[in-house]
Formats: sequence, structure tokens, C-alpha cells
Amino acid sequence: MNPSDGSEDRPSFDPESARRIMREYGSWAPVYDWFARATASIGGVRAGCVAALDLEPGDTAVDFGCGPGVNLPALREAVGPDGRVVGVDVTEPMLERARGLIERRGWTNVSVVRGDATRPPISRADGVLATFVTSLFPDPYAVVCRWCELADAVVVANFAPHGGRVANAALRAFARMNARLFDFEVGDPLCQLAERTEACRRALADCLDRVVSRDYVFGTIRLHAGYS
Ligand SMILES: C[S@@+](CC[C@H](N)C(=O)[O-])C[C@H]1O[C@@H](n2cnc3c(N)ncnc32)[C@H](O)[C@@H]1O
Repeated sequence: MNPSDGSEDRPSFDPESARRIMREYGSWAPVYDWFARATASIGGVRAGCVAALDLEPGDTAVDFGCGPGVNLPALREAVGPDGRVVGVDVTEPMLERARGLIERRGWTNVSVVRGDATRPPISRADGVLATFVTSLFPDPYAVVCRWCELADAVVVANFAPHGGRVANAALRAFARMNARLFDFEVGDPLCQLAERTEACRRALADCLDRVVSRDYVFGTIRLHAGYS
């Protein structure tokens, strides 16, 4: 894994979106960290994502938009002491939480870097993971295509309305509440959430050989895994 050249033709994060993301996630980092850890095993989504990466001991895994590092323990477990795990996030207070976790666990092969996942500061990995991140990108298709150039397995999980009426109503309320964060200016926030999650599947299908999709938590979270 080497630092990439950062060429200018990659999908990028507009400065206003970056500011909004860093402001929101920066001020909520301690609460998000607590909540994400408390709910980490619910529905088996995170375990399902890491299993879908098919990592082997000694592999390198990248977690884009790693936040406070909730996926890091399972990724470290999958690659073992001889592998490597790198978390990338744009929000410094989130990274501080992740660094605290890494220090407490005494991991020497897990690190986090501040960077823009839409312009990956990484050139190669065995597996790429992104949980609850791609819905924040206006053009997730372009970003996921870029990730497919980096690894043989790319796994993304995100919210999607594939459940029953109650589950979808709860998701609609969540999408409305967070419309500003997702930058859904017009239209139905739930449809836009669904479109962004579907765009990830299309990107995996267009760029890799095989895609597997699974639903979790009453059909409100959809995992897409692509393999070359
Ligand atoms: C909802 S949190 C998800 C955190 C973690 N993946 C999880 O599953 O708990 C979204 C994270 O994505 C990060 N993020 C959003 N856009 C990003 C970008 N372009 N580059 C890197 N990180 C980004 C935010 O800072 C935030 O930490």
C-alpha cells in the first residue's frame, strides 16, 4: 500500500460539503462513538461486512470513513497480527476517538489517517470497507468505482428502504431529520437515500466481476459486496 499521487481527475469533495461533514461529525464524535459501539453487534451488519471482505491473515484492509473506529476490532481480527488495517476519515475528532481505541488495544498494525475517501490516499489494499459513509457523497457511483481500482473486494453498507411499512417509515423519518447532512436539497430524502445505495451496487457491478447483496435490520440496511 503506497500513498497515491492525488491526481486531479478523481471525484472530489466540495469544500462546503467537507465543512458540513466535519462540523456535524466533529461535534457529535463522542456521542457517535458511544452509540456506534453500543449498537455495534445489532443485526450482525458489521460482522457481516467484515466476513464479506474474505480477508486472510496478513492482508491489508482499508476502512473509508472509519469514524471512531467501530469496524477496526473485527478488521484487525480478520487480518491478524501480520496484516494491516488503515482507517481513513476526514473528521479529526472522529480520528482522535479511533486513535484512543488503537492505543488502548496496543495494536501496532492498525492506524488511521486524515484524508478524503473520495480521493483515496491509498493505492492498493486487499479489501476496502465503507459502512454508513457513501450516502454522504453526492456521487457515490464515481467514488465506489475509484475504490474498485484499489482492491479485489469492496464492501459497502448503507441505509435503504427494503423493509416493511414500519421499518421504511422509521427510515424516512431518519432521512428527513438528516436531510441537511446528506445534502438532500430537493425531493424525497428516502428515495435519494435509496438511489445512493443503489448507485454503489451499480458501481460494483460495472467495475468488478461479481456482486452479492444482503439486507439487515428489518431491511433498513443493505450490504453490497463486489469481487474481482
Ligand atoms: C456515519 S459516520 C460512519 C462511521 C463508521 N464508518 C461507522 O460505520 O460507524 C460517517 C463518517 O464518514 C466520514 N466521512 C464523510 N465523508 C468523508 C470523506 N469524503 N472522506 C473521509 N471521511 C468521510 C465522517 O467524518 C464520519 O466519520
